[in-house]
Amino acid sequence: MKNQRRQLVLPPRVLIFPFPAQGHVTAMLTLAEVLSLAGIDVTFLNTDHIHNRLFRHADVEARFADYPGLLFRTVPDGLPDDHPRSHERTEVFHSMIATTKPVLKEMLVSGALGSVTCIIADGSFARFATDLAYEFQIPIIHFRTVSACCIWIHFCVDDIIKAGELPLREKEDMNRLITSVPGMESFLRCRDLPSFCQVRDLSNPQLNSIARETRQSCRAQGLILNTFEDLEGPILSHIRSLICPKTYTIGPLHTHLKLRLARKNASKSDQSSNSIFEVDRNCMDWLDSQPSKSVIYVSFGSITILTREALIEFWHGLVNSNMRFLWVVRPDMVTGEGGEGDVPAELLEATRERGYMVGWVPQVEVLAHQAVGGFLTHSGWNSTLESIVAGVPMICWPYFADQQINSRFVGEVWKLGIDMKDVCDRKVVEKMVIDLMVERREEFVRSTAEMARLAKESVSEGGSSYCNLDRLVEYIRLTSKEK
Ligand code: UDX
Repeated sequence: MKNQRRQLVLPPRVLIFPFPAQGHVTAMLTLAEVLSLAGIDVTFLNTDHIHNRLFRHADVEARFADYPGLLFRTVPDGLPDDHPRSHERTEVFHSMIATTKPVLKEMLVSGALGSVTCIIADGSFARFATDLAYEFQIPIIHFRTVSACCIWIHFCVDDIIKAGELPLREKEDMNRLITSVPGMESFLRCRDLPSFCQVRDLSNPQLNSIARETRQSCRAQGLILNTFEDLEGPILSHIRSLICPKTYTIGPLHTHLKLRLARKNASKSDQSSNSIFEVDRNCMDWLDSQPSKSVIYVSFGSITILTREALIEFWHGLVNSNMRFLWVVRPDMVTGEGGEGDVPAELLEATRERGYMVGWVPQVEVLAHQAVGGFLTHSGWNSTLESIVAGVPMICWPYFADQQINSRFVGEVWKLGIDMKDVCDRKVVEKMVIDLMVERREEFVRSTAEMARLAKESVSEGGSSYCNLDRLVEYIRLTSKEK
Protein backbone atom coordinates (compact mmCIF):
# COMPACT_ATOMS: atom_id res chain seq x y z
CA MET A 1 0.00 0.00 0.00
CA LYS A 2 2.77 2.34 1.05
CA ASN A 3 4.68 1.64 -2.18
CA GLN A 4 1.57 2.05 -4.27
CA ARG A 5 0.93 5.47 -2.79
CA ARG A 6 4.50 6.53 -3.43
CA GLN A 7 4.13 5.62 -7.10
CA LEU A 8 1.14 7.93 -7.47
CA VAL A 9 3.03 11.05 -6.41
CA LEU A 10 4.55 12.78 -9.42
CA PRO A 11 7.52 15.07 -8.87
CA PRO A 12 6.94 18.73 -9.61
CA ARG A 13 7.66 19.69 -13.22
CA VAL A 14 8.63 23.21 -14.12
CA LEU A 15 8.32 24.62 -17.62
CA ILE A 16 11.19 27.04 -18.32
CA PHE A 17 10.89 29.26 -21.34
CA PRO A 18 13.68 31.79 -22.12
CA PHE A 19 13.59 34.65 -24.60
CA PRO A 20 15.62 33.39 -27.59
CA ALA A 21 18.91 35.25 -27.03
CA GLN A 22 22.27 34.18 -25.57
CA GLY A 23 22.08 36.13 -22.28
CA HIS A 24 18.60 34.80 -21.50
CA VAL A 25 19.37 31.19 -22.49
CA THR A 26 22.59 31.20 -20.45
CA ALA A 27 20.88 32.26 -17.24
CA MET A 28 17.77 30.11 -17.64
CA LEU A 29 19.66 26.96 -18.61
CA THR A 30 21.77 27.41 -15.51
CA LEU A 31 18.57 27.77 -13.49
CA ALA A 32 17.26 24.57 -15.13
CA GLU A 33 20.35 22.68 -13.99
CA VAL A 34 20.20 24.10 -10.47
CA LEU A 35 16.56 22.99 -10.15
CA SER A 36 17.29 19.57 -11.69
CA LEU A 37 20.02 19.06 -9.11
CA ALA A 38 17.42 19.78 -6.43
CA GLY A 39 15.24 16.96 -7.81
CA ILE A 40 12.74 19.10 -9.72
CA ASP A 41 11.80 17.88 -13.21
CA VAL A 42 12.23 20.53 -15.87
CA THR A 43 10.89 20.99 -19.39
CA PHE A 44 13.19 23.45 -21.15
CA LEU A 45 11.49 25.07 -24.09
CA ASN A 46 13.57 26.77 -26.77
CA THR A 47 12.82 28.06 -30.21
CA ASP A 48 14.03 25.67 -32.94
CA HIS A 49 16.66 28.20 -33.96
CA ILE A 50 18.23 28.49 -30.49
CA HIS A 51 17.87 24.76 -29.78
CA ASN A 52 19.84 23.85 -32.92
CA ARG A 53 22.60 26.35 -32.17
CA LEU A 54 22.82 25.25 -28.54
CA PHE A 55 23.11 21.58 -29.42
CA ARG A 56 25.70 22.38 -32.08
CA HIS A 57 28.00 24.54 -29.94
CA ALA A 58 27.46 23.57 -26.30
CA ASP A 59 27.93 20.27 -24.48
CA VAL A 60 24.25 20.21 -23.58
CA GLU A 61 23.53 16.56 -24.37
CA ALA A 62 26.36 15.13 -22.27
CA ARG A 63 25.79 17.61 -19.48
CA PHE A 64 22.10 16.92 -19.03
CA ALA A 65 22.32 13.15 -19.50
CA ASP A 66 22.51 12.87 -15.70
CA TYR A 67 19.08 14.47 -15.30
CA PRO A 68 16.52 12.07 -16.79
CA GLY A 69 13.73 14.38 -15.64
CA LEU A 70 14.95 17.19 -17.87
CA LEU A 71 13.18 17.36 -21.23
CA PHE A 72 14.15 19.63 -24.11
CA ARG A 73 11.24 20.74 -26.25
CA THR A 74 11.08 23.23 -29.12
CA VAL A 75 8.66 25.66 -30.68
CA PRO A 76 8.89 27.66 -33.93
CA ASP A 77 9.55 31.41 -33.71
CA GLY A 78 7.76 32.06 -36.99
CA LEU A 79 10.76 33.69 -38.70
CA PRO A 80 12.57 32.60 -41.86
CA ASP A 81 15.88 30.72 -41.40
CA ASP A 82 18.03 33.60 -42.63
CA HIS A 83 16.45 36.25 -40.35
CA PRO A 84 19.11 38.13 -38.27
CA ARG A 85 17.26 37.35 -35.08
CA SER A 86 19.54 38.70 -32.35
CA HIS A 87 19.62 42.19 -33.87
CA GLU A 88 15.87 42.44 -34.31
CA ARG A 89 14.48 41.68 -30.89
CA THR A 90 11.18 43.48 -31.38
CA GLU A 91 10.46 41.50 -34.52
CA VAL A 92 11.33 38.26 -32.73
CA PHE A 93 9.03 39.22 -29.88
CA HIS A 94 6.04 40.01 -32.12
CA SER A 95 6.56 36.97 -34.29
CA MET A 96 6.63 34.75 -31.21
CA ILE A 97 3.46 36.23 -29.78
CA ALA A 98 1.74 35.46 -33.09
CA THR A 99 3.27 32.04 -33.80
CA THR A 100 4.55 30.52 -30.59
CA LYS A 101 1.69 31.33 -28.26
CA PRO A 102 -0.93 29.12 -29.98
CA VAL A 103 1.59 26.26 -30.38
CA LEU A 104 2.51 26.47 -26.71
CA LYS A 105 -1.14 26.37 -25.75
CA GLU A 106 -1.64 23.23 -27.80
CA MET A 107 1.43 21.62 -26.23
CA LEU A 108 0.10 22.32 -22.75
CA VAL A 109 -3.23 20.73 -23.66
CA SER A 110 -1.70 17.67 -25.35
CA GLY A 111 0.80 17.00 -22.56
CA ALA A 112 3.75 17.35 -24.95
CA LEU A 113 5.55 19.34 -22.28
CA GLY A 114 4.97 16.74 -19.52
CA SER A 115 2.66 17.36 -16.57
CA VAL A 116 3.63 20.94 -15.89
CA THR A 117 2.98 22.01 -12.29
CA CYS A 118 4.66 25.41 -12.44
CA ILE A 119 5.81 27.82 -15.17
CA ILE A 120 8.99 29.85 -14.88
CA ALA A 121 8.71 32.38 -17.69
CA ASP A 122 11.23 34.88 -18.90
CA GLY A 123 10.03 38.34 -17.83
CA SER A 124 10.38 39.46 -21.45
CA PHE A 125 7.28 37.34 -22.15
CA ALA A 126 5.60 38.25 -18.90
CA ARG A 127 2.15 39.08 -20.21
CA PHE A 128 1.64 36.21 -22.60
CA ALA A 129 3.06 33.62 -20.19
CA THR A 130 1.04 34.95 -17.27
CA ASP A 131 -2.20 34.94 -19.28
CA LEU A 132 -1.51 31.36 -20.29
CA ALA A 133 -0.73 30.30 -16.72
CA TYR A 134 -3.96 31.88 -15.45
CA GLU A 135 -5.93 30.17 -18.22
CA PHE A 136 -4.48 26.75 -17.35
CA GLN A 137 -4.45 27.50 -13.60
CA ILE A 138 -0.76 26.76 -13.32
CA PRO A 139 1.30 28.77 -10.81
CA ILE A 140 3.63 31.20 -12.55
CA ILE A 141 6.97 32.59 -11.47
CA HIS A 142 8.79 35.24 -13.49
CA PHE A 143 12.51 35.12 -14.06
CA ARG A 144 14.29 38.34 -15.03
CA THR A 145 17.71 38.05 -16.64
CA VAL A 146 18.46 41.73 -16.04
CA SER A 147 19.57 43.55 -12.88
CA ALA A 148 17.14 44.49 -10.11
CA CYS A 149 18.05 48.15 -10.60
CA CYS A 150 16.84 47.97 -14.21
CA ILE A 151 13.58 46.27 -13.28
CA TRP A 152 12.95 48.92 -10.65
CA ILE A 153 13.38 51.77 -13.16
CA HIS A 154 11.11 50.01 -15.67
CA PHE A 155 8.50 49.69 -12.94
CA CYS A 156 8.82 53.41 -12.10
CA VAL A 157 8.34 54.64 -15.70
CA ASP A 158 4.85 56.07 -14.96
CA ASP A 159 6.17 57.97 -11.94
CA ILE A 160 9.06 59.39 -13.94
CA ILE A 161 6.56 60.61 -16.53
CA LYS A 162 4.22 62.03 -13.87
CA ALA A 163 7.16 63.93 -12.35
CA GLY A 164 7.75 65.51 -15.77
CA GLU A 165 11.24 63.94 -16.03
CA LEU A 166 10.39 62.00 -19.18
CA PRO A 167 10.26 62.36 -22.15
CA LEU A 168 13.74 63.70 -22.81
CA ARG A 169 13.77 67.17 -24.32
CA GLU A 170 14.94 67.88 -27.87
CA LYS A 171 18.29 69.30 -26.76
CA GLU A 172 18.62 67.37 -23.53
CA ASP A 173 21.37 67.74 -20.97
CA MET A 174 22.01 64.02 -20.55
CA ASN A 175 23.65 64.68 -17.18
CA ARG A 176 20.34 66.01 -15.78
CA LEU A 177 19.35 64.13 -12.61
CA ILE A 178 16.20 61.99 -12.60
CA THR A 179 14.91 62.24 -9.05
CA SER A 180 11.68 60.26 -9.16
CA VAL A 181 13.09 56.74 -8.83
CA PRO A 182 13.21 55.90 -5.11
CA GLY A 183 16.69 54.83 -4.05
CA MET A 184 18.42 56.43 -7.04
CA GLU A 185 17.62 60.13 -6.47
CA SER A 186 21.22 61.26 -6.08
CA PHE A 187 22.95 59.54 -8.98
CA LEU A 188 20.53 58.57 -11.77
CA ARG A 189 21.10 60.81 -14.80
CA CYS A 190 19.24 60.79 -18.13
CA ARG A 191 22.15 58.96 -19.73
CA ASP A 192 21.95 56.19 -17.09
CA LEU A 193 18.35 55.30 -17.87
CA PRO A 194 17.95 51.89 -19.52
CA SER A 195 18.08 52.57 -23.28
CA PHE A 196 14.39 51.80 -23.80
CA CYS A 197 13.52 54.66 -21.41
CA GLN A 198 15.67 57.24 -23.16
CA VAL A 199 12.79 58.44 -25.36
CA ARG A 200 11.69 61.81 -26.69
CA ASP A 201 8.19 60.55 -27.45
CA LEU A 202 5.99 58.94 -24.81
CA SER A 203 4.18 56.83 -27.39
CA ASN A 204 7.43 54.94 -28.05
CA PRO A 205 6.34 51.27 -28.32
CA GLN A 206 9.45 49.86 -26.57
CA LEU A 207 8.98 52.17 -23.58
CA ASN A 208 5.36 51.14 -23.25
CA SER A 209 6.15 47.49 -23.74
CA ILE A 210 8.84 47.30 -21.04
CA ALA A 211 6.70 49.22 -18.55
CA ARG A 212 3.70 46.97 -19.25
CA GLU A 213 5.69 43.71 -19.12
CA THR A 214 7.37 44.72 -15.85
CA ARG A 215 4.03 45.50 -14.18
CA GLN A 216 2.93 41.95 -15.05
CA SER A 217 5.24 40.66 -12.33
CA CYS A 218 2.67 41.91 -9.79
CA ARG A 219 0.42 39.09 -11.12
CA ALA A 220 3.09 36.40 -10.72
CA GLN A 221 3.30 34.19 -7.64
CA GLY A 222 7.03 34.75 -7.45
CA LEU A 223 9.93 36.57 -9.06
CA ILE A 224 13.41 35.08 -9.48
CA LEU A 225 16.38 37.40 -9.90
CA ASN A 226 19.95 36.54 -10.83
CA THR A 227 21.47 38.86 -8.26
CA PHE A 228 22.36 38.83 -4.56
CA GLU A 229 21.29 40.78 -1.51
CA ASP A 230 24.66 42.39 -0.76
CA LEU A 231 24.76 43.79 -4.29
CA GLU A 232 21.26 45.18 -4.76
CA GLY A 233 19.68 45.00 -1.27
CA PRO A 234 18.17 48.52 -1.08
CA ILE A 235 16.55 48.23 -4.52
CA LEU A 236 15.29 44.74 -3.70
CA SER A 237 13.29 46.05 -0.75
CA HIS A 238 11.43 48.38 -3.12
CA ILE A 239 10.78 45.48 -5.48
CA ARG A 240 9.49 43.27 -2.66
CA SER A 241 7.15 45.94 -1.35
CA LEU A 242 5.72 47.14 -4.67
CA ILE A 243 6.20 44.45 -7.34
CA CYS A 244 6.38 40.98 -5.84
CA PRO A 245 6.79 40.08 -2.15
CA LYS A 246 8.10 36.60 -3.02
CA THR A 247 11.25 37.78 -4.79
CA TYR A 248 13.95 35.10 -4.77
CA THR A 249 17.48 36.37 -5.34
CA ILE A 250 19.53 33.28 -6.16
CA GLY A 251 22.58 34.64 -7.99
CA PRO A 252 25.20 34.77 -9.19
CA LEU A 253 23.68 31.67 -10.77
CA HIS A 254 26.78 30.37 -12.56
CA THR A 255 28.70 30.26 -9.27
CA HIS A 256 25.70 28.95 -7.38
CA LEU A 257 25.50 25.99 -9.77
CA LYS A 258 29.21 25.33 -9.47
CA LEU A 259 29.05 25.18 -5.67
CA ARG A 260 25.89 23.04 -5.61
CA LEU A 261 27.53 20.59 -8.04
CA ALA A 262 30.61 20.44 -5.82
CA ARG A 263 28.45 19.76 -2.77
CA LYS A 264 26.82 16.85 -4.58
CA ASN A 265 30.28 15.64 -5.59
CA ALA A 266 28.99 15.68 -9.13
CA SER A 267 31.93 14.94 -11.38
CA LYS A 268 30.96 17.57 -13.92
CA SER A 269 33.35 19.40 -16.15
CA ASP A 270 34.25 22.90 -15.07
CA GLN A 271 34.23 23.87 -18.70
CA SER A 272 30.57 23.35 -19.54
CA SER A 273 29.11 25.91 -21.87
CA ASN A 274 25.74 27.42 -22.70
CA SER A 275 27.01 29.01 -25.88
CA ILE A 276 25.04 29.39 -29.07
CA PHE A 277 28.30 30.52 -30.74
CA GLU A 278 31.30 28.37 -31.64
CA VAL A 279 33.82 28.63 -28.78
CA ASP A 280 37.48 29.07 -29.72
CA ARG A 281 39.60 27.75 -26.83
CA ASN A 282 42.97 28.62 -28.37
CA CYS A 283 42.95 31.93 -26.53
CA MET A 284 43.50 29.99 -23.29
CA ASP A 285 46.97 28.92 -24.48
CA TRP A 286 47.73 32.52 -25.37
CA LEU A 287 46.57 33.66 -21.91
CA ASP A 288 48.77 30.97 -20.28
CA SER A 289 51.81 32.67 -21.75
CA GLN A 290 50.96 36.19 -20.47
CA PRO A 291 52.16 37.68 -17.16
CA SER A 292 49.84 37.88 -14.18
CA LYS A 293 47.08 40.56 -14.42
CA SER A 294 48.63 42.02 -17.56
CA VAL A 295 45.74 41.49 -20.01
CA ILE A 296 42.64 43.59 -20.52
CA TYR A 297 39.84 41.35 -21.78
CA VAL A 298 37.43 43.07 -24.19
CA SER A 299 33.98 41.76 -25.07
CA PHE A 300 30.71 43.44 -25.95
CA GLY A 301 28.49 40.38 -25.48
CA SER A 302 26.23 38.56 -27.90
CA ILE A 303 24.12 41.34 -29.42
CA THR A 304 26.15 44.57 -29.63
CA ILE A 305 26.83 45.94 -33.09
CA LEU A 306 29.86 48.17 -33.61
CA THR A 307 30.41 50.53 -36.51
CA ARG A 308 33.74 50.20 -38.28
CA GLU A 309 34.71 53.66 -36.97
CA ALA A 310 33.99 52.64 -33.38
CA LEU A 311 36.00 49.43 -33.84
CA ILE A 312 38.99 51.44 -35.05
CA GLU A 313 38.66 53.96 -32.16
CA PHE A 314 38.67 51.14 -29.60
CA TRP A 315 41.55 49.48 -31.41
CA HIS A 316 43.69 52.63 -31.34
CA GLY A 317 42.86 53.19 -27.68
CA LEU A 318 43.84 49.65 -26.73
CA VAL A 319 47.05 49.72 -28.74
CA ASN A 320 48.05 53.19 -27.45
CA SER A 321 47.56 52.06 -23.85
CA ASN A 322 50.43 49.61 -24.45
CA MET A 323 48.55 46.92 -22.52
CA ARG A 324 48.12 43.35 -23.71
CA PHE A 325 44.56 42.66 -24.82
CA LEU A 326 42.26 39.74 -25.64
CA TRP A 327 39.34 40.97 -27.74
CA VAL A 328 36.18 39.11 -28.76
CA VAL A 329 35.05 40.29 -32.18
CA ARG A 330 32.05 38.19 -33.18
CA PRO A 331 31.80 37.54 -36.93
CA ASP A 332 28.45 39.44 -37.01
CA MET A 333 29.58 42.31 -34.77
CA VAL A 334 30.95 44.99 -37.08
CA THR A 335 28.94 46.96 -39.63
CA GLY A 336 30.21 49.20 -42.40
CA GLU A 337 32.51 49.02 -45.35
CA GLY A 338 36.10 47.82 -45.15
CA GLY A 339 38.16 44.79 -44.29
CA GLU A 340 41.52 43.92 -42.79
CA GLY A 341 43.21 45.76 -45.68
CA ASP A 342 41.78 49.05 -44.36
CA VAL A 343 43.14 48.64 -40.84
CA PRO A 344 46.17 50.85 -40.16
CA ALA A 345 49.38 48.75 -40.25
CA GLU A 346 50.46 49.88 -36.76
CA LEU A 347 47.29 48.36 -35.26
CA LEU A 348 47.86 45.01 -36.96
CA GLU A 349 51.47 44.94 -35.88
CA ALA A 350 50.74 45.86 -32.26
CA THR A 351 48.00 43.21 -32.18
CA ARG A 352 50.46 40.57 -33.39
CA GLU A 353 52.87 41.63 -30.64
CA ARG A 354 50.59 41.90 -27.63
CA GLY A 355 46.99 41.25 -28.66
CA TYR A 356 44.69 38.36 -29.52
CA MET A 357 41.41 38.70 -31.41
CA VAL A 358 38.91 35.87 -31.40
CA GLY A 359 35.31 35.16 -32.42
CA TRP A 360 33.97 33.77 -29.12
CA VAL A 361 35.76 32.63 -25.93
CA PRO A 362 34.86 30.61 -22.82
CA GLN A 363 34.27 33.87 -20.94
CA VAL A 364 33.89 32.60 -17.37
CA GLU A 365 37.24 30.79 -17.70
CA VAL A 366 38.86 33.80 -19.31
CA LEU A 367 37.78 36.10 -16.48
CA ALA A 368 39.10 33.61 -13.91
CA HIS A 369 42.50 33.36 -15.64
CA GLN A 370 45.45 34.76 -13.68
CA ALA A 371 46.61 36.81 -16.69
CA VAL A 372 43.41 38.88 -16.86
CA GLY A 373 43.53 42.17 -14.93
CA GLY A 374 40.60 44.12 -16.37
CA PHE A 375 37.45 43.82 -18.46
CA LEU A 376 36.26 46.31 -21.06
CA THR A 377 32.60 45.29 -21.23
CA HIS A 378 29.21 46.30 -22.62
CA SER A 379 27.81 45.73 -19.10
CA GLY A 380 25.40 42.93 -20.01
CA TRP A 381 24.08 41.49 -16.77
CA ASN A 382 25.68 38.06 -17.12
CA SER A 383 29.04 39.61 -17.95
CA THR A 384 28.76 42.00 -15.00
CA LEU A 385 28.06 39.14 -12.57
CA GLU A 386 30.82 36.97 -14.05
CA SER A 387 33.30 39.83 -13.65
CA ILE A 388 32.17 40.47 -10.07
CA VAL A 389 32.69 36.82 -9.08
CA ALA A 390 36.13 36.76 -10.73
CA GLY A 391 37.08 39.99 -8.93
CA VAL A 392 37.98 41.69 -12.22
CA PRO A 393 37.47 45.49 -12.42
CA MET A 394 35.51 46.83 -15.38
CA ILE A 395 35.49 49.63 -17.91
CA CYS A 396 31.89 49.94 -19.03
CA TRP A 397 30.75 50.85 -22.52
CA PRO A 398 27.00 50.10 -22.40
CA TYR A 399 25.19 49.41 -25.64
CA PHE A 400 21.48 48.97 -24.87
CA ALA A 401 18.73 47.74 -22.53
CA ASP A 402 19.79 47.42 -18.86
CA GLN A 403 23.44 48.06 -19.70
CA GLN A 404 23.23 51.85 -19.18
CA ILE A 405 22.05 51.49 -15.59
CA ASN A 406 24.32 48.51 -14.84
CA SER A 407 27.33 50.59 -15.83
CA ARG A 408 26.22 53.48 -13.58
CA PHE A 409 26.00 51.12 -10.61
CA VAL A 410 29.41 49.60 -11.44
CA GLY A 411 31.08 53.02 -11.59
CA GLU A 412 29.19 55.14 -9.05
CA VAL A 413 27.54 52.83 -6.53
CA TRP A 414 29.63 49.66 -6.28
CA LYS A 415 32.91 51.34 -7.32
CA LEU A 416 33.99 48.26 -9.25
CA GLY A 417 35.30 50.11 -12.27
CA ILE A 418 34.94 53.08 -14.57
CA ASP A 419 31.83 54.02 -16.54
CA MET A 420 32.87 55.22 -19.99
CA LYS A 421 29.22 55.40 -21.04
CA ASP A 422 28.37 56.63 -24.51
CA VAL A 423 31.82 57.99 -25.31
CA CYS A 424 33.87 56.20 -27.94
CA ASP A 425 37.13 58.01 -28.45
CA ARG A 426 40.62 56.55 -28.70
CA LYS A 427 42.10 59.00 -26.15
CA VAL A 428 39.39 58.18 -23.61
CA VAL A 429 39.80 54.43 -24.16
CA GLU A 430 43.58 54.70 -23.74
CA LYS A 431 43.30 56.76 -20.54
CA MET A 432 40.68 54.52 -18.97
CA VAL A 433 42.60 51.34 -19.73
CA ILE A 434 45.72 52.82 -18.10
CA ASP A 435 43.68 54.08 -15.14
CA LEU A 436 42.07 50.69 -14.58
CA MET A 437 45.16 48.55 -15.13
CA VAL A 438 47.82 50.80 -13.56
CA GLU A 439 46.96 54.18 -11.99
CA ARG A 440 43.91 53.17 -9.94
CA ARG A 441 44.70 49.47 -9.82
CA GLU A 442 45.04 49.22 -6.02
CA GLU A 443 41.74 50.95 -5.34
CA PHE A 444 39.92 48.57 -7.67
CA VAL A 445 41.72 45.47 -6.40
CA ARG A 446 40.32 46.23 -2.95
CA SER A 447 36.72 46.90 -4.00
CA THR A 448 36.46 44.01 -6.47
CA ALA A 449 38.00 41.50 -4.05
CA GLU A 450 35.46 42.45 -1.39
CA MET A 451 32.48 42.19 -3.77
CA ALA A 452 33.76 38.83 -5.09
CA ARG A 453 33.91 37.60 -1.50
CA LEU A 454 30.32 38.71 -0.84
CA ALA A 455 29.12 37.12 -4.10
CA LYS A 456 30.67 33.77 -3.21
CA GLU A 457 29.41 33.99 0.36
CA SER A 458 25.85 34.52 -0.87
CA VAL A 459 25.81 31.20 -2.76
CA SER A 460 27.65 29.23 -0.08
CA GLU A 461 25.72 27.20 2.49
CA GLY A 462 23.80 29.60 4.74
CA GLY A 463 24.25 32.55 2.37
CA SER A 464 21.26 34.62 1.17
CA SER A 465 21.10 33.20 -2.38
CA TYR A 466 21.66 29.68 -1.08
CA CYS A 467 18.75 29.94 1.38
CA ASN A 468 16.53 31.67 -1.20
CA LEU A 469 17.06 28.81 -3.66
CA ASP A 470 16.07 26.30 -0.99
CA ARG A 471 12.93 28.37 -0.35
CA LEU A 472 12.16 28.52 -4.05
CA VAL A 473 12.50 24.74 -4.40
CA GLU A 474 10.26 24.28 -1.38
CA TYR A 475 7.68 26.66 -2.88
CA ILE A 476 7.71 24.80 -6.23
CA ARG A 477 7.16 21.49 -4.44
CA LEU A 478 4.34 22.94 -2.37
CA THR A 479 2.49 24.46 -5.31
CA SER A 480 2.74 21.21 -7.25
CA LYS A 481 1.18 19.29 -4.34
CA GLU A 482 -1.63 21.85 -4.19
CA LYS A 483 -2.14 21.53 -7.92
C1 UDX B 1 21.76 41.11 -23.12
C2 UDX B 1 21.64 42.12 -21.96
O1 UDX B 1 22.42 43.20 -22.04
C3 UDX B 1 21.72 41.47 -20.65
O2 UDX B 1 21.91 42.37 -19.59
C4 UDX B 1 20.47 40.75 -20.52
O3 UDX B 1 20.38 40.18 -19.27
C5 UDX B 1 20.41 39.73 -21.64
O4 UDX B 1 20.58 40.32 -22.94
P1 UDX B 1 24.22 39.93 -23.84
O5 UDX B 1 24.70 40.89 -24.84
O6 UDX B 1 24.05 38.55 -24.29
O7 UDX B 1 22.88 40.26 -23.04
O8 UDX B 1 25.26 40.04 -22.61
P2 UDX B 1 25.41 39.24 -21.27
O9 UDX B 1 24.18 39.30 -20.43
O10 UDX B 1 26.63 39.73 -20.65
O11 UDX B 1 25.58 37.73 -21.73
C6 UDX B 1 26.60 37.29 -22.56
C7 UDX B 1 26.99 35.88 -22.17
O12 UDX B 1 27.80 35.35 -23.21
C8 UDX B 1 27.80 35.81 -20.90
O13 UDX B 1 27.35 34.75 -20.08
C9 UDX B 1 29.22 35.54 -21.36
O14 UDX B 1 29.98 34.73 -20.49
C10 UDX B 1 28.99 34.81 -22.66
N1 UDX B 1 30.11 35.02 -23.58
C11 UDX B 1 30.34 36.25 -24.14
C12 UDX B 1 30.92 33.96 -23.87
O15 UDX B 1 30.73 32.86 -23.35
N2 UDX B 1 31.93 34.15 -24.76
C13 UDX B 1 32.19 35.32 -25.34
O16 UDX B 1 33.14 35.40 -26.14
C14 UDX B 1 31.37 36.43 -25.03
